[in-house]
Amino acid sequence: MRHLLSPLDFSVEETNRLLILAKDISENPKKYSKCCLGKKLATLFYEPSTRTRLSFEAAMLNLGGSVLGFSSADSSSAAKGESVSDTIRVISCYADICAMRHPKEGAPLVASTKSSIPVINAGDGGHQHPTQTLTDLLTIYCLKGHLENMTIGLCGDLKFGRTVHSLINSLVRYAGIKFVLISPKELCVPDYIREDVLDKNNIPYKEVEKLEDVMGELDILYMTRVQKERFFNEDDYLRMKDFYILDKNKMSLAKDDMIVLHPLPRVNEISVEVDDDPRAAYFKQAQYGVYVRMALIMTLLEVTLDE
Ligand code: NCD
Repeated sequence: MRHLLSPLDFSVEETNRLLILAKDISENPKKYSKCCLGKKLATLFYEPSTRTRLSFEAAMLNLGGSVLGFSSADSSSAAKGESVSDTIRVISCYADICAMRHPKEGAPLVASTKSSIPVINAGDGGHQHPTQTLTDLLTIYCLKGHLENMTIGLCGDLKFGRTVHSLINSLVRYAGIKFVLISPKELCVPDYIREDVLDKNNIPYKEVEKLEDVMGELDILYMTRVQKERFFNEDDYLRMKDFYILDKNKMSLAKDDMIVLHPLPRVNEISVEVDDDPRAAYFKQAQYGVYVRMALIMTLLEVTLDE
């Protein structure tokens, strides 16, 4: 039995296989509509979510399966003091696979040690968000046709943004990837990403503060929200929250085939005037999130079309 706790739990070959399956699902969704008949997905969300939880549920329903779960710690027995370990032992009796989001880093890992069903990390604190990374990879793969030889700008809250951490972890395994890390100094990538992932793999990168200065170099611009819920101090959040606003003027400095991604939700960091730009791909990205989660559920449950 396998879990998905970090994007590195899948090798590059396995990741590519999953992306090819997801692309086929996106082109022929009906073909897969009965793959998970009789199977159940539990969504255990101790932190707010719209896309991740609902796209998991849509994915399982699209495969013919069913879903159950809770969408906040308050509406689960966590409010009575139950541990994640006990909860997962019980959920293992009710479902065939589960997706867990938790504010504490490592909670899905703890759950996986007590689980008898595959556990998918749907975001743990400021740590990792591997299924968002699969979504991002599928979007890039489908829109650009490949995952190699690209300059990727990551902009915003690179310190607390778990989607950024997972994406860097995964992309360093592809050839010819360069990063431009765009953030205020206070929100730059954590040392463990800079030293253990970028430096260790000899990945070319630079850290800058001004988005305008680098727009023209980028093949992908990955915007992120300042992660309000992870700040200790409200004043710091207020000072940082509108540091970057992508608008039409800044878009005019970008390449014609650059694409803009954002894991969403957006707050102010992308002006709505950019939404109609053909390079804005963040709503398409949300759609790809359903296909990639369908492929992931099939892979972890080891179901194939033939069964
Ligand atoms: C992201 C998350 O939860 O980390 N959202 C998502 O899953 N699409 C990004 C964010 O909340 O800013």
